[in-house]
Amino acid sequence: MKGIRIIKKEANNVRKKLLKEDILSKKFKARNDENYVYFPIKSECDDTIIESLLNEYPYEYGDYEFEKASYRPQNFRDYLEDIPEQLVDEVTKSFDVIGDIVIIEVPPELETKKHQIAQAVLKFTRRKSVYCKKSKVSGVRRTRKLEYLSGEESLETTHREFGLRYRLNPSMVYFSPRLATERSRITSQVNNGEIIIDFFAGIASFGINIAKKHDVTIYSVDINPEAIRYAHENIKLNNLVGNVIPILGDINDVIVDLPMADRILMNLPGYSKNFLNLAVNHLKKGGILNYYEFSNSEETVIDRIREASGTRKVEIEDVRRVRSQSPGIYHMGVDARIY
Ligand SMILES: C[S@@+](CC[C@H](N)C(=O)[O-])C[C@H]1O[C@@H](n2cnc3c(N)ncnc32)[C@H](O)[C@@H]1O
Repeated sequence: MKGIRIIKKEANNVRKKLLKEDILSKKFKARNDENYVYFPIKSECDDTIIESLLNEYPYEYGDYEFEKASYRPQNFRDYLEDIPEQLVDEVTKSFDVIGDIVIIEVPPELETKKHQIAQAVLKFTRRKSVYCKKSKVSGVRRTRKLEYLSGEESLETTHREFGLRYRLNPSMVYFSPRLATERSRITSQVNNGEIIIDFFAGIASFGINIAKKHDVTIYSVDINPEAIRYAHENIKLNNLVGNVIPILGDINDVIVDLPMADRILMNLPGYSKNFLNLAVNHLKKGGILNYYEFSNSEETVIDRIREASGTRKVEIEDVRRVRSQSPGIYHMGVDARIY
């Protein structure tokens, strides 16, 4: 394997430099002979780094024999020391932890290392299973394909968030742990007694968050039968103050049977614009629309709400970028009061 050979009297200085740059491999033992010390180097390290680091020393960089060290990795990076740091960072940034399941995104250049990465993830997150994303979120139900990589092969889990529990299978229903703050934000706006319709409720995560704190009635509508099945289960799990009523169906069909609302939630950001007229027509005077859309411009989203509201007066109470969707495109959230 790759290593540095250096004369003994300079070995300590060189060792310090290699450690500081984090390119000394911990998986193998350094060794010495009569005149030289040999240091094992991480395989991803390229020659130019060594050259610029050690140019003042009489070193040789080449292939040398090293004995394996009996070392225990201390962190995620140690475990994956043969993978370039920047790629490891890409993997860690894309982590989603849902209950006992970690869902990772493996860049194409690391496809052959995905099981090694999954082992490291399992070890350092102390969760039970690791899956990787196999498709984008797609289809009416907004789900994605997942591929099993490591640990227990089970996709049903219980996710804990702010003292609440959500039972779900992430390959069958949409759920994002990254919306935890958004759920709390909406809950903090709600008043007791409100009648709320969640047009695209999924497992009723918004409704349950709200009804844990407020005595409200929430109609949680979803077209995905699995989402509605989990919504029923989650309502039982969480000992709610308010009343969450899961309804299976297309909101276009279901809406006629629902009362006018004080608040309508619309988290289907790729398509919610197609349902804006329906929502505005079902909102009481002075009701609130919690509207979400993928967009690069706050103004475009606000204009759309104003247009759908026609002659009704619209007050924008808040606009925010909930999170980044893709370069330049944000998951925008708008709270609009419509009179
Ligand atoms: C992006 S997910 C959001 C789920 C939930 N609001 C959340 O934040 O976890 C959108 C949901 O809308 C549902 N959906 C899509 N079209 C629908 C429609 N026409 N009527 C009712 N639900 C629909 C999907 O099944 C999916 O569960």
